[in-house]
Amino acid sequence: MLTWLYNKGRISSRRSENSKMASYTLIGIFLLCCTVLVTAVSRDNFKSCDQSSFCRRCRKVEPGKTPYELLSSTVSYNQTTLSADLFNKDTGIVYILKLTALRDNTFRLHINEKAPLHARYEVELALQAEPQVSKIDSIEKSEESITVKSGPNKAVLSVKPFKVDLYSQDELVISANARGLMRFEHIRTKPEPKQEPEQDGAEKVEEPKPEVESEHPGDGADSDPGAWEENFKSHHDSKPLGPEAIALDFSFPGAENVYGIPEHADSLALKSTKSKDPYRLYNLDVFEYELNEGMSLYGAVPVLYAHGKEKTSGIFWHNAAETWVDILSTADNNVVESIVNFVSGSKKPQVAAHFMSESGVIDVFFLLGPKPLDAFRQYTLLTGTAPLPQTFALGYHQSRWNYNDQDDVQQIADSFDRYDMPMDVMWLDIEYTDGKKYFTWDARKFPNPVEMIHNLTSKGRKLVVIIDPHIKRDDGYNVHTDATNMGLYVKNKDGKDYEGWCWPGSSSYLDLFDPKVREYYMTRYDFNNFQGTTKDVYIWNDMNEPSVFNGPEITMPKDVIHYGGWEHRDVHNAYGLMQTVATYEALMRRSERSLRPFILTRSHFAGSQRYAAVWTGDNMAEWDHLKASFPMCLSLAISGISFCGADVGGFFKNPDAELFVRWNQAGAWLPFFRQHSHIETKRREPWTFNDEVTQIVREALRLRYSYLPLWYTLFREHEVNGTPVLRPIWAHYPTEVEAFGIDEELLVGDSILVRPVFEPGVTDVTVYLPGEGKVSWYDIDTMQQHGQQSTLTVPVTLHKIPVYQRSGSIVPRKMRIRRSTVAMKNDPYTLVVIADNNGKATGTLYIDDEVSFEYRNGKYLYLRLSLVGNNLSSKILDKVASYETKSCLERVDIVNPPKGIKSAHLTSKNLGKVALETKYNPHNNVLVVRKPSVNMGEEWTIELLN
Ligand SMILES: *[C@@H]1O[C@H](CO)[C@@H](O)[C@H](O)[C@H]1NC(C)=O
Ligand SMILES: *[C@@H]1O[C@H](CO)[C@@H](O)[C@H](O)[C@H]1NC(C)=O
Ligand SMILES: *[C@@H]1O[C@H](CO)[C@@H](O)[C@H](O)[C@H]1NC(C)=O
Repeated sequence: MLTWLYNKGRISSRRSENSKMASYTLIGIFLLCCTVLVTAVSRDNFKSCDQSSFCRRCRKVEPGKTPYELLSSTVSYNQTTLSADLFNKDTGIVYILKLTALRDNTFRLHINEKAPLHARYEVELALQAEPQVSKIDSIEKSEESITVKSGPNKAVLSVKPFKVDLYSQDELVISANARGLMRFEHIRTKPEPKQEPEQDGAEKVEEPKPEVESEHPGDGADSDPGAWEENFKSHHDSKPLGPEAIALDFSFPGAENVYGIPEHADSLALKSTKSKDPYRLYNLDVFEYELNEGMSLYGAVPVLYAHGKEKTSGIFWHNAAETWVDILSTADNNVVESIVNFVSGSKKPQVAAHFMSESGVIDVFFLLGPKPLDAFRQYTLLTGTAPLPQTFALGYHQSRWNYNDQDDVQQIADSFDRYDMPMDVMWLDIEYTDGKKYFTWDARKFPNPVEMIHNLTSKGRKLVVIIDPHIKRDDGYNVHTDATNMGLYVKNKDGKDYEGWCWPGSSSYLDLFDPKVREYYMTRYDFNNFQGTTKDVYIWNDMNEPSVFNGPEITMPKDVIHYGGWEHRDVHNAYGLMQTVATYEALMRRSERSLRPFILTRSHFAGSQRYAAVWTGDNMAEWDHLKASFPMCLSLAISGISFCGADVGGFFKNPDAELFVRWNQAGAWLPFFRQHSHIETKRREPWTFNDEVTQIVREALRLRYSYLPLWYTLFREHEVNGTPVLRPIWAHYPTEVEAFGIDEELLVGDSILVRPVFEPGVTDVTVYLPGEGKVSWYDIDTMQQHGQQSTLTVPVTLHKIPVYQRSGSIVPRKMRIRRSTVAMKNDPYTLVVIADNNGKATGTLYIDDEVSFEYRNGKYLYLRLSLVGNNLSSKILDKVASYETKSCLERVDIVNPPKGIKSAHLTSKNLGKVALETKYNPHNNVLVVRKPSVNMGEEWTIELLN
């Protein structure tokens, strides 16, 4: 009843449950009051920096007064690592610093207490492996500094005051502690409780001075009332270990902007936080999140890139605790003036960042570029890339909270066939379970799940079901009884199983940091434990921040205890990662390691790309949310997580027809393409609006499927090289300053530029086409040429968003659209070739069995396609690999072809020399080569003849 009233009073929401639990008392106010309160309440659930004692302490550090000094006499080194003691003259605490040279223009700086009272947490499983080291070429010591050279780079450690300058090819690109904001709160014993001054006493009693003046003034944490315990709303954090924050500042001379540190619903280029809260990284289930905000969202990837016309660099802050990041931009004139003085005395533009974490150690990787794609690769060399997905995962996904029952699922799937729309995956949200007990089915709504699944797979489709990490505390539920008996739950501070509130009501949470617990969790996915599923069922891990409706900030209290005795405080941002680690391995096992897993996760951290795709959570059916999906996915893509999408249509609220159309047109160009919506929204399958919408969305879905060979090739290249599948314009046009702040466009690979329509009722949009006139961009429908001017106004109709293919590129497509990707596997390819001004074009194509891991045994084809003069050819790039494909080449479109072509012939080993038909269309300047019909596994050349 309360829920109903609550929902009626505002946008009904899934996450209203959160607020419901936390704020029953506020409901009355909601109902009486206006909607202005709604956002206020949501925001109130989450801390500002001011409400977090460690953030206050770190942010208060004054620039230019660092107490840290290197003790030069302690410097030692070997072939890869320099070690030295670092001393804090304010506290007398000694730290050990290690600087290690890593492969591919990367350094690692690690600082920990030399003799901590107890161990400090070091992050696990974000790195894909122990990073590979590189050789230090030389070390030079002087009074003032120590210079460590490795390859084209060097690190210069200043002794007093302490800072570290990183040079890429003799140019200073990153300076750590240049502003002197470093803070490393040592572990300490709790001071004896002092007598509380009386609340209402007239005079405060002066505290007795310590008898002996300490040699060191301290770091100020002891006198912070929030250092040893802290309250937020009705929640108490007992903080038994006291203050243990760490912080460090980074300046980036020559950089115009910084990017990264997802997840935030904000612009791709990070904004100055000079007069607002820092960006926050603390995985949270934020109900109805707001845009243009540095507030936390579901995920945290602490990698940041600095980019300027000349150089790109980055830092990876390897820490899983709550983290805040202040940004100073070039626009902050005074501040920048002072950074300039600290760093180099030059007047270059520069940006600075200040990372502040609640606990852990300072462990930071410097990615020295020098180009954007180099820095992105350097990050993925540390944290890994996404394994190639099965092709179905790149198709279209249809989801809703919830498809009611098995008939509903069947009818929706059938309707896609009826309306001639491709669709690969049906999804089931929490209502499929028996009372939100995961790994079970509601037998009333889904009496025959296996038959339902077979009905889907008989059409080449799959099913994805949700599995959340909270476990219903129900004595009749075997997962709960096992977890209780075997001690698998996260413990509260008193050592009992922690209990929170989530979908099932009273819930506990598996301690997924414990390898033994992950092992148990994996067995839950076995076919005999998760009955009613088959190998064609894949998994959605949601609510894994973790979401706890009655917890502080809707998550777990920081003083609950995990495996190894670590507090939740230390590990929070990696909880969701741990769930996907277990789920991934479980899916591997249940297919006997033969099928590539597919997992979607909401919470994510550095390294999540190795296990799961990510979506941007519970967005809204609003134009600005559609627009935000582009910079949000771009930010994730450059932070290692290419497999990103946003709920098409918006999760909360009902999109109108126009928004729905535009969302499908844009969503077709994000790697993960799924429609999803809230339980109380109207049905919105693509045919539920009107005929025109049905037709336009059909076109959008079909367009997506026609580009699957490109998507698939890009995912393979990402897996191998770490290149993001989606890229900001500046990734390929690093000197074009106009592109540094563009949020409305993205590149798919390096060949396709997409500029969706993000506003209602518009008849044209502004497009920035990079390349400074040296590159042309061709409308993918009309093949009309653009790019002589960098900014143009392009007319749009409801039927179309601007999408361009670059001159000099070759894009593989499949033009016979069928009901699912599986059905298209053996279909022939079409190549779209756009010759540049020199008559050249290149592209790649990757082909394999689309489902298994056989490609890792060399069962694949990786082709280099190129046009040079009159010759178009396909060459096998990885000669050691081979794959017998049934697909052949069906057609080639050559835009801007050589003049006067009358015919062509194809030469290949198996076919010999074959005459081909060509047709030139002077209106769009496209030469079509028909039916080459050569198998894609062969090398071939098509010679165009005058
Ligand atoms: C160099 O020193 C570091 C840090 O002390 C150590 O971890 C590493 O194993 C050493 N490497 C070699 C080659 O001795
Ligand atoms: C499976 O498909 C058949 C044939 O269309 C249908 O009769 C049956 O009800 C379907 N079963 C389920 C569980 O959806
Ligand atoms: C094109 O191919 C033909 C036949 O293989 C060859 O003779 C010619 O040199 C090639 N032209 C170019 C520009 O590579």
